[in-house]
Amino acid sequence: MTLLNAVHITKRFDGLTALKAVDLQVKAGEFAAVIGPNGAGKSTLFNCLTGQITPDEGSIRYQDEDPRGVSSAQRSLLGISRTFQRIQLFGGMTVRDQLVVATRAHKQHGALWNDLLRGGRVTRAERTQTDATLDMLGIGSIADSPVESLTLGMARLVELARALVTKPDLLLLDEPSSGLDRRETEHMAGILRLVCSEESVAVALIEHDVQMVGDLAETVWVLDYGQLIAHGPTHEVFEDEKVRAAYLGIQLR
Ligand SMILES: Nc1ncnc2c1ncn2[C@@H]1O[C@H](COP(=O)(O)OP(=O)(O)OP(=O)(O)O)[C@@H](O)[C@H]1O
Ligand SMILES: [Mg+2]
Repeated sequence: MTLLNAVHITKRFDGLTALKAVDLQVKAGEFAAVIGPNGAGKSTLFNCLTGQITPDEGSIRYQDEDPRGVSSAQRSLLGISRTFQRIQLFGGMTVRDQLVVATRAHKQHGALWNDLLRGGRVTRAERTQTDATLDMLGIGSIADSPVESLTLGMARLVELARALVTKPDLLLLDEPSSGLDRRETEHMAGILRLVCSEESVAVALIEHDVQMVGDLAETVWVLDYGQLIAHGPTHEVFEDEKVRAAYLGIQLR
């Protein structure tokens, strides 16, 4: 079943066409990757899909609905969650509270964050839900830590946990291994594999680490200068001459 069907997405910024009629389809439970050189339009595509920005042209269907009338804050209600290239955690809160806010926003249709926490103490049910997600990612021990104390690697896992706690069907991840060392990247890759296979969450992953893409993704979509230059099964795309040319100097398997 096709979960996400984005067709001919075009986005212009002043004189620059960041996306030119780009398609992206993700099936339920699939692990897809979106790759391409810097400035290719990958983050812009995700921002169009999640409502951070509005595409100039094209159509988006999510589970056969048009999500464009739904604000970015409310898209978790549709089953879409995301993480950001530059981590976006809420300051002045513990790790657990980050996740509680996300669950309350999900239930209360995106009310203001402050109102969400004014509700006071974390209920037993919320604690069970948030701590199960943190444990699944192997970070249960930092539930009470303030977010300001986290290393980059931990902060990326917390952002992932916050995206997962609302039990999405589709997770859009914008360079989750950016800034992580090799060991942290491998840990992240293991978690993403687990999330997709055992939690049945479809993943669309923007990633520069081609080894990680080759290890995880069933299908790959390649953007270059705002255009989709190739897509298909990972091993076929990695053999494609246009893709190799766009990645000149990078070893594709
Ligand atoms: N808000 C904006 N205003 C103007 N130009 C923008 C804006 N956002 C992105 N761009 C431009 O659109 C193009 C695509 O940017 P985008 O961030 O989508 O690339 P990317 O593939 O995610 O790159 P990277 O791998 O470096 O993250 C770039 O030329 C960028 O400068
Ligand atoms: Mg980007």
